[in-house]
Amino acid sequence: MIKVDNLSTSYETIDGDVHVLNDLNFTINDNEIFGIAGESGCGKTTLLRTLYDLIEYPLKVDHGEVVLSGVKDGKNFEYHTGNIKKSWWNNMSYVPQAAQSVLDPISRLKSQFLDSIPVEDRKKETEKETLERVADYLEQLNLSRDILESYPFQLSGGMRQRAIIALATFMSPNVVLADEPTTALDVVVQKGILMMLMDLQKKLKNTMVIVSHDMGVHYQITNRMAIMYSGSVAELGNTEDIFGDPIHPYTQMLVGALPRVGDKSARVGIPGRPPALKNPPKGCRFAPRCPHATDRCKQEVPKFEEIKPGRFAACHLLKKEV
Ligand SMILES: Nc1ncnc2c1ncn2[C@@H]1O[C@H](COP(=O)(O)OP(=O)(O)O)[C@@H](O)[C@H]1O
Ligand SMILES: [Mg+2]
Repeated sequence: MIKVDNLSTSYETIDGDVHVLNDLNFTINDNEIFGIAGESGCGKTTLLRTLYDLIEYPLKVDHGEVVLSGVKDGKNFEYHTGNIKKSWWNNMSYVPQAAQSVLDPISRLKSQFLDSIPVEDRKKETEKETLERVADYLEQLNLSRDILESYPFQLSGGMRQRAIIALATFMSPNVVLADEPTTALDVVVQKGILMMLMDLQKKLKNTMVIVSHDMGVHYQITNRMAIMYSGSVAELGNTEDIFGDPIHPYTQMLVGALPRVGDKSARVGIPGRPPALKNPPKGCRFAPRCPHATDRCKQEVPKFEEIKPGRFAACHLLKKEV
């Protein structure tokens, strides 16, 4: 389970701090595919890096923390922001944005696999034995064991992404974080990657956190999802309910902008642009684009609250039903 507790982060810049994540509070459950959606620049990558505790200058945590807990091989574990690094590979792994380009172009995949698997987890094996295990694992995922002998450029973008997902899941981590895993791949390849992630989640019975700006990806594979807007979560709940009955005006626009089968009428885009994080508007950050905004919305930041069972949103216009 991942608990995000009152989390705020910012980037240090020469003109002062840019606050990116603002007081986030939510939980990601065991054994679910959790989606994080929202327009480019809203803070999805920053959130994923913070979940993984990959906090490097100029990024910093202002307050709050992430707590990662669970059971692995019969033992309980619990890590907090600051020591989550100890969970890497075994309990949590990370597929970064544009992962295909993080592979070293001048070394064969087998050496990149060997470098990534922590030495203490190679038990008392020889390199050859570890690679044998990796090759068997690749075959379980319907990948050829021969890709270990390849250099990244010899593989297609989709195959490189599959290899990286294989590497990230080799140690059966409790949580896999994937940042835009299908972006920059063509539609057919995207489908294959999504199927691979779904199959892996079923096999490992673990948690997958999928960041994508593409609502179609969330519709296809996530169980629950968070809609981010300008560094906060606007709405969170079951994916099916969010698509069927979005309650936050921003989500309503996102869902309304999606193409529908057989519907030839023009889709309405979302007018305006997200606010600059440097000088955000007072009150609700969505208010300048919201068709229902009131004076209160322009003055007061809405609280992120449970509106109906399991559904959370930050909007002054919603009445709590729980
Ligand atoms: N290295 C950086 N320095 C300063 N600001 C940054 C840096 N990286 C990201 N940001 C800011 O954080 C915001 C969120 O970025 P990011 O988390 O990458 O968004 P997303 O993944 O949703 O596109 C950006 O709009 C940008 O203003
Ligand atoms: Mg991103």
